[in-house]
Amino acid sequence: MRRGNVLSLQMISARKIAWVLALLSMTLAGCAGAPSPLAPVSSNARLISSLTWVVFGIATIVFVVVEGMLIYSTIRFSRKTSDGLPKQVGGNTRLEIAWTLAPAIVLAVVFVISMQTLRTIAFQPSTSPDAGDPSQALHVRVIGHQWWWELDYPDLHIVAADEMHVPTGTVVNVDVESVDVIHSYWVPQLGGKIDAIPGHVNRTWFQATQAGTYYGQCAEFCGVEHANMRLQVIVETPEQFQTWVKGQQAAVPAMTGDAATGEQVFLNGPCVGCHTIDGTKAQGKVGPNLTHFASRSVFAGAVLDNTPQNVAQWLADPQKVKPGNLMPNLHLPQNQIDELVAFLESLK
Ligand code: CUA
Repeated sequence: MRRGNVLSLQMISARKIAWVLALLSMTLAGCAGAPSPLAPVSSNARLISSLTWVVFGIATIVFVVVEGMLIYSTIRFSRKTSDGLPKQVGGNTRLEIAWTLAPAIVLAVVFVISMQTLRTIAFQPSTSPDAGDPSQALHVRVIGHQWWWELDYPDLHIVAADEMHVPTGTVVNVDVESVDVIHSYWVPQLGGKIDAIPGHVNRTWFQATQAGTYYGQCAEFCGVEHANMRLQVIVETPEQFQTWVKGQQAAVPAMTGDAATGEQVFLNGPCVGCHTIDGTKAQGKVGPNLTHFASRSVFAGAVLDNTPQNVAQWLADPQKVKPGNLMPNLHLPQNQIDELVAFLESLK
C-alpha cells in the first residue's frame, strides 16, 4: 500500500517535470526570432556571449551537483519503516566549511572573469590592441529621445534617425546621450547595454565583423512607448557605406508635382517647428531630422516600415499609431497628407 503511494507520487513529479520542460522549450523557441546576444557579430558582443556560456556552464554544473545530492539524499535517507525517528544529526564542521567555501570560490571565479570581460569592453579603441587604426574610427553620437534614437555623425555632418549605418571592420565610437529621460542603448548582437543619461555622455564602441541588419531596443523603461523605441543598425561594406554617406551629404533635390506642393505644405506649416530639412527654413530640433527621410527603411522609432501607406497613416493621426509620442494630430486634410507623403518619400 505504502509502496503504491510512493510510486504515484513519483509519477506526479515526473509529469510536472515534463510540463515544466515543455513550457521552457516553448519559451526558448519564442526567443529564437529575437535579436540574441548569443549570435554576436562584433568582438565585444563575442566576449559577452562567451562569458554568458561560461557562466551558464558553471551554473549547470552547480545545478546538477546540488539537485543530484538533493535527490540522492531524499531517496537514500527517506523513512522506510514506520517505527521511530531516523538518526538525528546536528552539525558537521567539515561539511559546513565545504559548503561555504565552494560557493565562495565559484562566485570569485565568476566575478574575476566578468571583470576581465568588462575591462576589455571598456577599453577605448585607441588603447585597445586589436581595434585597428584609431584614426580611421567612425564617431557616432546616439541620442535618446522619447521615443526614438537620433544619430549624429559629427565628422561627416550627417544627422539621421532610427537607422544607423556603419561599415564592417571599422571601429565605431558611440557617444550615448539623452535629451529627456534615461534610456539605454542596446544592440544585442553588437555589444552590451549602456545608459543614455541627460547631461552626461557615456561612451562605448564596437567593431562589426559581418554585414547585415541588426536590431536595437531601448533597454531602460522611459515612458509609455519604451517598448516602441527601437533602432536598426545596417552594417554594410565600406563601399556601400561610402555610397550612403554621399547620399546623406547630398542636397535635397528639386521637387516637382505633388512633392513640390507637399514641400510648400511642409515649409509653411507647423512641421518646421519640430523638424529639420537641411538647406531649407525647417530647422526644428524636437523631432527627427528628415533631410533624407526616404533613404530610411523604418521610421517612428524604427517600429514602422517606411512605406507611403504607413507615413500617410502616421500623418493622419500620430497619436493613434504611437500614443503618447510628441507629434500632435495636426488634423491635416487628405490632399495635404497625400502631398506631404509625396514630398517625404522624395527626400532620398
Ligand atoms: Cu527609451 Cu526606454
